[in-house]
Amino acid sequence: MMPKRVTICEMGARDGLQNEATLVSADDKIRYIDLLSQTGLRYIEATSFVSPKAIPQLGDAQEVFARIHKAPGVRYPVLVPNAKGYARAREAGVEAICVFTAASQIFTRRNINMTIEQSLEVFREVVQRAKADGLWVRGYVSTAFGSPFGDAVSPQAVVDVGVALMEMGCDELSIGDTIGVAVPSHVETLVPMLAAKLPIERIAMHFHDTRGTALANIYAALQQGMTIFDASSGGLGGCPYAPGATGNVGTEDVLYLLHGLGIDTGVDLDRVRAASRFIAGVLDHPLTSKTYQALETSRIGAAT
Ligand code: HMG
Ligand code: MG
Repeated sequence: MMPKRVTICEMGARDGLQNEATLVSADDKIRYIDLLSQTGLRYIEATSFVSPKAIPQLGDAQEVFARIHKAPGVRYPVLVPNAKGYARAREAGVEAICVFTAASQIFTRRNINMTIEQSLEVFREVVQRAKADGLWVRGYVSTAFGSPFGDAVSPQAVVDVGVALMEMGCDELSIGDTIGVAVPSHVETLVPMLAAKLPIERIAMHFHDTRGTALANIYAALQQGMTIFDASSGGLGGCPYAPGATGNVGTEDVLYLLHGLGIDTGVDLDRVRAASRFIAGVLDHPLTSKTYQALETSRIGAAT
């Protein structure tokens, strides 16, 4: 039941950098994205056109998006929280956007200051406009396996929000384990419920690795026929509005697993590592991806 080919969606420049306390310069963000563009990745989330008060790190979205070298065949989606974000993104020449809501009411309020219902109303208009303008649209359902604020999240609520996003015209859905609490049995419960209502070839799984279960969850999702996975070079990531959330599963770790299983991704692990090494030199902490760490250690070992 394992797929032969899987698509990796790279989160490092958006989910990754949004969670960094130290301000990264636009030049360094651009260099990082340009290195990611040389890896074979076909989906590189570039930045967010959110309120700069909410995410100061990505306040340079306009400049970053304008100056990255857009490789042919690569999508560079950006997060858009409302009509204002959509207008800014269009002005910058964006061709793919992501709208984002959640299955937890409290998280949605903290993250985008709306109820889930209000967010769906706002996004219905944004998505309609984006589709009329010929854009590609992804919809996120965050806190799909648990909320950082302890409110209950049911699999049915995830399905309902996912269906609403797809019905309004999203091309793809991403199901987010924002705080990294899922285990494979949760995946095995949720995926068939999604598959009963939606085409799973258009659904991505977005695992944060807070408790070290992300690769196990990906393996479970692969067995359920899922073929799109979000990951972050070096394991960067987290949401400042989800207390305790740590990085996305590392792109290097996912590539190591998939290639070892004989699954094709079209992505060069060594080139992803080069992008991670560049951004590691800019940040004030080590990267968490185990495969990145192992490869860097053996590189040092080989050189001495
Ligand atoms: P609000 O305060 O309710 O918004 O925030 P508002 O409409 O009242 O506006 C307040 C101010 O922000 C105004 O400026 C607006 O003009 C400005 P002022 O008059 O005070 O000078 N503003 C904007 N400026 C630039 N671009 C915009 C924009 N919108 C308003 N688009 C809002 C509501 C949604 C704007 C805010 O809460 C926000 O931007 N939130 C984004 C939070 C965020 O980016 N979170 C991380 C991404 S989600 C995530 O990481 C999860 C994911 O990875 C999946 C997973 O892991 O599960 C996707
Ligand atoms: Mg995330």
